Amino acid sequence: MFRNKNILIGITGGIAAYKILELIRLYKKNNANVKVIMTENATNFVTPLTIRTLSNNPVYTKQFEVDNLFPEHISLGSWADIFVIAPASANTIGKIANGICDNLLTSIACAFSKQIIVAPAMNCEMWNNQFVQDNINKLQKAGYEILSPEAGFLACGTSGVGRLCAIEKICAATYEHLKYKNQKLKNKKIVITAGGTRENLDPVRYLGNHSSGKMGVALANEAYNLGADVILINTFNHKAEYKTIDVSSALEMKSAVEAEKQDADCIIMAAAVADFRIKNQNEQKIKKDDNDETLTIELIKNPDILYEISQSKNENQIIVGFCAESENLIENAKTKINKKQCDYLIANDISRKDIGFSSDENEVYILDKKLNIKKIDKAQKSVIAEKILEYIYGEN
Ligand code: CTP
Repeated sequence: MFRNKNILIGITGGIAAYKILELIRLYKKNNANVKVIMTENATNFVTPLTIRTLSNNPVYTKQFEVDNLFPEHISLGSWADIFVIAPASANTIGKIANGICDNLLTSIACAFSKQIIVAPAMNCEMWNNQFVQDNINKLQKAGYEILSPEAGFLACGTSGVGRLCAIEKICAATYEHLKYKNQKLKNKKIVITAGGTRENLDPVRYLGNHSSGKMGVALANEAYNLGADVILINTFNHKAEYKTIDVSSALEMKSAVEAEKQDADCIIMAAAVADFRIKNQNEQKIKKDDNDETLTIELIKNPDILYEISQSKNENQIIVGFCAESENLIENAKTKINKKQCDYLIANDISRKDIGFSSDENEVYILDKKLNIKKIDKAQKSVIAEKILEYIYGEN
């Protein structure tokens, strides 16, 4: 639901602060990255230690940290995709609505250019106060989403409107904003291959490779998050919210790619496809002969799927290949993009133990047909995927 999304929560001083512990868990359960800032008053209701433990991130309370080079109100603001202030006290609402920035939370709100959700919680008389209502109207007019408090029993012993709305409602509102943001690949069909193909030798054995498929999955997830109609052709039975097709051999992968390619806007060949298959596959298990010290297997060349789709592509299709090299990365990549004739080639160095096969991180170079090269520094594969798609779709 929130994969690759950064949610910043602002907690102000109110008894409903304890409910935010569940909100953090809900966001995290749905794969969000969560950071929390608390006002000094909020720390009277829940401890920063609890919040830090649940969010797996430091908790921010002070506007001026002595050993921090970058102002938090700028760096946290750029990190976050959305800012959710819950519970929002009458005091904080009043400050934000009137441009007051006297703590970290209000300073971030003032410097934040993306969506802010405000979920107020307070005593019902405070909520009905004319100044509070004027401030709420001001925020609403400025584009803040206000999740109005609900009626019910309040901590101060009275009943009325003032209780923080259900955390599920805050979560759903957050999703609605993030879902419709960044849908720049909407209506684009993106076909991605992932994993290493397996070439059967007999019913028991196969020729394979070390590809984990993680880079292909990261690309599929990211394309899906950006609204694309994703088809992941993979060799490891991956289940996802988008369409997946299971294949095993290079020939099966070729058929699946061909079946999907016609109306595809982009095809990304992230799979490690075997260059050769077994010439005569054995129907029965090969038995070892006690007299033979060696076994000879004849291999036959597989079709080069990337080359073939690059040759027959439609005018507006974008074809992207990968290039796994253990030496002379850039030189080999240049030769490969010329040979394969794809639009982009993503080159990575598989000799490095810290990136590439099976690793969660990668570092890649993107080459285009004119041999322009763009380096993407080492990062999580999800981040690399995001940057590759950004580059291909015009934000380079
Ligand atoms: N590829 C393909 N069909 C093949 C072999 C590779 O479509 N039969 C694609 C891969 O999915 C990848 C690109 O070609 O996008 C480059 O793969 P790579 O293994 O780096 O190169 P090869 O073509 O196999 O060449 P070599 O093994 O000589 O480096």
